Amino acid sequence: MTDIDLTTAGLPASDESARRELPESLMATLSGQYYTDQTIFALEQSRIFEQEWFCAVRSADLANPGQFRTVQVGRESVLIARDRRGSLNAFLNICRHRGARLCVEETGEVRRSFQCPYHAWTYGLDGKLVAAPNLNGMPDVDRSEFGLHKVALREWLGYAWVCLADEPPSFEDTVIADVIARLGDGESIEAYQIDTLELGRRINYDVRANWKQIIENFMECYHCATIHPELTEVLPEFEDGFAAQYYVGHGAEFGEDVGGFTVDGSAGLPKLPGVREDQDRRYYAITVRPQVFINLVPDHVILHRMFPVAPDRTLIECDWLYLPEVVESGVDLTKSVELFHRVNQQDFDACERCQLAMDSRGYASGGVFVPSEHHIGEFHEWVSGRLTEQ
Ligand code: FES
Ligand SMILES: [Fe+2]
Repeated sequence: MTDIDLTTAGLPASDESARRELPESLMATLSGQYYTDQTIFALEQSRIFEQEWFCAVRSADLANPGQFRTVQVGRESVLIARDRRGSLNAFLNICRHRGARLCVEETGEVRRSFQCPYHAWTYGLDGKLVAAPNLNGMPDVDRSEFGLHKVALREWLGYAWVCLADEPPSFEDTVIADVIARLGDGESIEAYQIDTLELGRRINYDVRANWKQIIENFMECYHCATIHPELTEVLPEFEDGFAAQYYVGHGAEFGEDVGGFTVDGSAGLPKLPGVREDQDRRYYAITVRPQVFINLVPDHVILHRMFPVAPDRTLIECDWLYLPEVVESGVDLTKSVELFHRVNQQDFDACERCQLAMDSRGYASGGVFVPSEHHIGEFHEWVSGRLTEQ
């Protein structure tokens, strides 16, 4: 897709006078327009979501050849399918003939090919053009030239990540680097063996807020004491507003009388076998820019994928992952799932409450961060850097 003309993008200039007047403890946030403006959102789609690695689908959701999923990545629909050799492939979800949308369903399964419903051009699960009406009468057409447009795909943590960039950035320098920046090393996350876990529960949320609100909220814990009573019961240190993602390598410790990461602090499930002594009874939260949150606790992992669809609307798929034997045993996961489901609802309600005011004149030059939120400033610099870079 063509890039947006920056001269017409109308990026709001930073309000230097407001910044200068702030006391040292406070830092300026982005201005309200960043959360409402359609042009800025379109720029984010082209400069961020269509450039970075985007966590699209859980690999095990597409276990069999012919199973597919379509996801919106930036302004593009991407089709991800498992081929007959067992590999996952990603394509732009458009027909090479006259551009019809190939799959309109979000998920489904085909036998051995995708056939365009318009003139019946037919593509193998690996994207190759295998048949088209009257193709034999066009001997000069090389069918290998007219397969589906491939999109880069990489599997990690049991998920398929796709990248629409012509030259995808290094996965290690972006996705994995974000995890290392939070945990301090690359090995700590491997201890949870996330790719071996099974889906215990998935909840979809339709959040009426800008995707950046949701990231900013996830990065800070200043709000924990106010809106997360159950979470602060389990993680008492969250009451002071720091912890969370403030300190590199730090996991918030369970309270002394807490049995597990459950809604009432009762005992959890069997510990994941790789979890180290120093990781036990601790919670780690990781933000992988631009759209993934990973939450690590000793007996499960919670992974959020965000799908920004409008300046004021973000769809979120949240997966609760457990040991296969735990899921297969049919044990009741309610208390385990309920804790973070409540946290999600509390967080997303707060994001929606902020979104309501983003186009108020009272937020035209933004708000302020207190010291325990200052690290969100780096995220804002990253976003505005991406939007303005040539
Ligand atoms: S547009 Fe797909 S076959 Fe014609
Ligand atoms: Fe929260």
